[in-house]
Amino acid sequence: MAVGVVFFLFLVVALATAPGGDAAVVEHTFIVSQMMLNHLCNNTPVIVVNGQLPGPAIEASEGDSIVVHVINKSPHGVSIHWHGVKQQLNCWADGADMITQCPIQPNKNFTYRFNVIGQEGTLWWHAHVACLRATIHGALIIRPRLGSSSYPFHKPDKEIPIVIGEWWGTDLVRLDKRFNNSNFAYVPGSSTINGKLGDLNNCFGFIEENYILNVEHGKTYLLRIVNAALHPQYYYKIAGHMFTVVAADANYVKPYMTDTIAIAPGETVDVLVVANAPPGMYYMVALGIMSLGPITETPAFISRGIVSYNNQANATSDGTPIMVPEMPDQREETLAFYFHDNLTSLVHHRVPADVDERLFITVDTGNMCRKGSVPACGLVSRMNNISFQPPANGSLLHAHYSNNMINNVISTLQDFPSRPPPRMVFNRGHTSKATSLRRVRYNTTMEIVLQGPPIWPSYPNPMHLHGHDFFILAQGHGRYNAEKDVQAYNLLDPPVRNTALVPVLGWMVIRFVTRNPGVWLLHCHIQQHVSTGMAVAFVVENGPTMDTTLPPPPADYPSCDNQN
Ligand code: C2O
Repeated sequence: MAVGVVFFLFLVVALATAPGGDAAVVEHTFIVSQMMLNHLCNNTPVIVVNGQLPGPAIEASEGDSIVVHVINKSPHGVSIHWHGVKQQLNCWADGADMITQCPIQPNKNFTYRFNVIGQEGTLWWHAHVACLRATIHGALIIRPRLGSSSYPFHKPDKEIPIVIGEWWGTDLVRLDKRFNNSNFAYVPGSSTINGKLGDLNNCFGFIEENYILNVEHGKTYLLRIVNAALHPQYYYKIAGHMFTVVAADANYVKPYMTDTIAIAPGETVDVLVVANAPPGMYYMVALGIMSLGPITETPAFISRGIVSYNNQANATSDGTPIMVPEMPDQREETLAFYFHDNLTSLVHHRVPADVDERLFITVDTGNMCRKGSVPACGLVSRMNNISFQPPANGSLLHAHYSNNMINNVISTLQDFPSRPPPRMVFNRGHTSKATSLRRVRYNTTMEIVLQGPPIWPSYPNPMHLHGHDFFILAQGHGRYNAEKDVQAYNLLDPPVRNTALVPVLGWMVIRFVTRNPGVWLLHCHIQQHVSTGMAVAFVVENGPTMDTTLPPPPADYPSCDNQN
């Protein structure tokens, strides 16, 4: 306890007194290009950054400036989102396609400039167009300004990014088109750990490589786990080892011991693991959670890597037995619910008490029929019964900035209601498409109840808010009940996150203050859901002063000509 308090004070002092002068500039060049990868007996063209999958990790210290020159040599337009970066007064660099910018067209460049002030831990970056983030992603690591000895936990000997992803083995732009007007949930060919499919995947006897983590006995490792998958939530486990969870979404949590991590798409989790098992080899397993139904139609999404004490590059070939962890059932969702429920903030922030604006938002899928499309009807995703349609000919932010031209430029606009239409809640029909947008004044304390369908099971929806962290005050099953559930709010040490996993058959309450003018998307991080409309844009107005006003766009801001 005493140690915890000392660490806590140290952290606060470190963040408050960090001298402005010694912040560094971390500079990267990202060359986006197409290359061929062969997995599961198939050559597939994929678009990657610097020829790597996962892409390069960005490593910075709190307070640094980050400069990334994106050079697009690929055949598709791209934008890159810095997932979890607050982008204070810097919405132009958020990288959300058609929200904050138009994509960088082939053979064009754009330089993203942003800082990581007041943020520490693991974030990540990914493409924010169609499904391209399946192969365009990487970790964004922010260490304490005063070095790794000022972590509020035992200083790790080594830090390792663990990026959980997927191998789709298909054209990802076409996949995105197939998501629409479809009654089918598309699933990947395999899961990956740091780009490797692992030895449970083979075709005609060609076994896929495992990711191998060589460890030294007695050493402590900080695993920075990112779920970059388009599709499911994952369980992650290492045979014979325990984890101490120390952070999530780049916010420290009270140390929490467990042998199983649950991580939803978009989330990050930092864990300490001590290599204290008898020397040998141990599988690490990432298993996709398919809470919806029969295994027959949902094969196991699984990737294995190996933790090796033997320093063997090719651990599988010499016949040494490798310990296998006992995984939860792939349809088991309760464990993931409690994993999230058990996280509390290490630092006790002051949770704003007076709520200015309350939203009740239903997140679900519904049927929508369109004239002239084949098939005529298909499932779409929606929030308060509106299925989000990105604008076609310009970014929302630029239209909003240009003397409020937003209504002239964007013809599909609709104000997002503070509740779903009466009697239409979780009615499968009655969906419309619109660029739904919610205007919010500067410095508004928002409380949002996110309600999933309480009747029929669906996936838990990881709702990610751009440009803001929020407090998670409560979550529960069934229908949210304002009178009763408010009693259960955690106002003392709620976790601070950028992604809120709305449980299956349940709800979640988040609270945050709008002090960052711009246009910020709130959306589900399951790609099929966001591609088919589970999103809404918040327009946060400027504050009263210059330093609460969004500056003009950068000079090389991508033009919106030639958008397709
Ligand atoms: Cu990580 Cu809008 O997403």
